[in-house]
Amino acid sequence: MTSAYAAVYKEWRDDPELFWRKAAKAIDWIKAPQKIFDAGAGVYGLWFPDAVCNACANAVDRHVEAGRGDQAAIIYDSPVTGTKRTLTYAQLQEEVGTLAAVLRKHGVEKGDRVIIYMAMIPEAVIGMLACARIGAIHSVVFGGFAAQELAKRIDDCAPKLVLAASCGVEPNRVVHYKPLLDEAIELAARKPAAVLMLRRPQEPATPTQGRDFDWTAEVEAARAQGLFADCVPVAATDPLYILYTSGTTGAPKGVVRDTGGYLVALEWTMSNVYDVKPGEVFWAASDVGWVVGHSYIVYGPLIHGATTIIYEGKPVGTPDPGAFWRVIEEHGVASLFTAPTALRAIKKEDPAGTWLQRYDVSRLRALFLAGERADPDTIQWAEKILNVPVVDHWWQTETGWAIAANPLGLGMAPVKYGSPTFPMPGYDLSVVDDLGHDAGRNEMGTILLRLPLPPGNLVALWNQEARMRAGYLDDFPGFYKTGDGGYVDDDGYVFVMGRIDDVINVAGHRLSTGGMEEVIASHPDVAECAVIGMNDAIKGEQPCGFIVLKAGTSGTHERIEKELVQLVRDKVGPVAAFKTAIVVDRLPKTRSGKILRGAMKKIADHDPWTTPATIDDPAVLDDIADALKAKGI
Ligand code: COA
Ligand code: AMP
Repeated sequence: MTSAYAAVYKEWRDDPELFWRKAAKAIDWIKAPQKIFDAGAGVYGLWFPDAVCNACANAVDRHVEAGRGDQAAIIYDSPVTGTKRTLTYAQLQEEVGTLAAVLRKHGVEKGDRVIIYMAMIPEAVIGMLACARIGAIHSVVFGGFAAQELAKRIDDCAPKLVLAASCGVEPNRVVHYKPLLDEAIELAARKPAAVLMLRRPQEPATPTQGRDFDWTAEVEAARAQGLFADCVPVAATDPLYILYTSGTTGAPKGVVRDTGGYLVALEWTMSNVYDVKPGEVFWAASDVGWVVGHSYIVYGPLIHGATTIIYEGKPVGTPDPGAFWRVIEEHGVASLFTAPTALRAIKKEDPAGTWLQRYDVSRLRALFLAGERADPDTIQWAEKILNVPVVDHWWQTETGWAIAANPLGLGMAPVKYGSPTFPMPGYDLSVVDDLGHDAGRNEMGTILLRLPLPPGNLVALWNQEARMRAGYLDDFPGFYKTGDGGYVDDDGYVFVMGRIDDVINVAGHRLSTGGMEEVIASHPDVAECAVIGMNDAIKGEQPCGFIVLKAGTSGTHERIEKELVQLVRDKVGPVAAFKTAIVVDRLPKTRSGKILRGAMKKIADHDPWTTPATIDDPAVLDDIADALKAKGI
């Protein structure tokens, strides 16, 4: 089958508004859009400015009304707790409507913010949908972040209420969320009025008097009283959620997603990119704390009427490298979406794919990869063992869905390994060189997207319009700066090679080296520091910090290095995976004082390096190489 991609992309280019007007027909509107795009509204324009809708109605109620209430909406599979549970669309509607009534009882109304700090459990999704149901704006915070990171998010969005789980469960330990939440609320200036706490049996935690309410008891009481909240009408341009992501500094950026545009874009992708039909099982093995979780564990599959899987486990060790293949067989997964790092972890433990032989994965039709660059070896390994198309696709928290992909629903285009294939409709991509001139084909540069961004993309940064403009829009007027570098080849294939800013990607998790540097610099013995991302065979990258101590510091280097590793874990969280701190005498700098992070990265990665012409003292690079060698790197 030849791909209809070129024709569909042309259709969008010829008349973008008509393209999205047609796509919008797949959504249930309370007031259907008359106007498709208002270029004068918002930071760069707003989609569906006069439409009214509700995300929860599209994700839940409309499937029940269509007679599909008995179909599984959510399958929860948790090898770390030994639990499995299925919720039908009708059950999901009942749970969501009841929780939404509880939220109301606690004073949460349309436009209020609610932080969700939970694990990969159905209640996290029920919480998100309950907020959407009453027009409250949810902000999910990944469980691997520490109290200080949670506090920053609380202060930024000032939630009226926090939905929390008492604990998370990692394979090697129970993560006590309650004390982390207590510390975060203590640190935060804009404290939430209440916490609704799901007390998990692994560590139920004692509720804080006057602040914490027992989730289960509150829901049961509401049910006994027959309380149930209906979906409220919201403007298509109203925020559905805020999702914080890492920027170049320690202050996280609150990506604001609108409602109507997001629904339209996700629904379009379910058929055209993922080729999934309503009723089929779609599994995004990510976490609801990340954008992939928002779009493809929760909203995408549910809007489309598919069945989604909430998997509380890892690709390996829960209990073995056959975990993914078991889930695929047991739940009849048609399409799997994960990060390349998960496959590399499986490949390391089971290079020949022998665990796969124990399971029948014949219902799997495709594997999608995103979150970091997919190395050709990993793609080819997965293709070989699974014998299904493996699709690398590129996207960001900001975009909410794939910028570039090989759209299976339109017919797969030939694969070029290392490329996420073509820009999707809505994305007009350019590559520019250091001077801002168009780079030629095959020339590396900064990847830009011409404004307006398509429906579903960020419409703002919460409370930070100036940062939104400065970070994404000001450098190249008329364009959105992706922060990724890459090139487009002669056949129009996009190649994304990595970030051009201080953001690194560790096990598919986006992290700020600037944020880690701020924490390290807060140590009383540290004079200055630089954190780089160095290559890692499994996680893609791992952070490595070079530290210069203040003169006269006492204590061994080893002790201070250990303290710094612990400090980053305590302040940023275990997800930072910061395990390497190296004390050095000096950092390599240009004559104007800029730290040469790129040169340090090349040395750490054992890539060929030459001494930058602008360096102040070339001998410092040899010192860095020696310090790394001494650590066995
Ligand atoms: N709550 C608390 N702690 C968490 C957590 C959570 N939700 N998620 C991860 N952590 C902790 C881990 O326990 C680990 O702690 P440790 O240092 O005590 O071992 C640390 O954060 C780092 O976690 P991670 O980077 O996930 O490493 P890992 O060794 O536990 O697992 C992989 C490695 C590759 C198996 C795992 O990272 C993975 O499955 N990655 C897929 C990533 C993904 O889905 N990304 C989303 C984008 S699509
Ligand atoms: P996040 O916002 O956490 O989804 O991370 C987005 C970043 O991950 C992008 O800016 C890229 O650097 C990287 N990324 C995501 N998907 C891909 C991909 N398919 N290929 C290369 N890089 C990717």
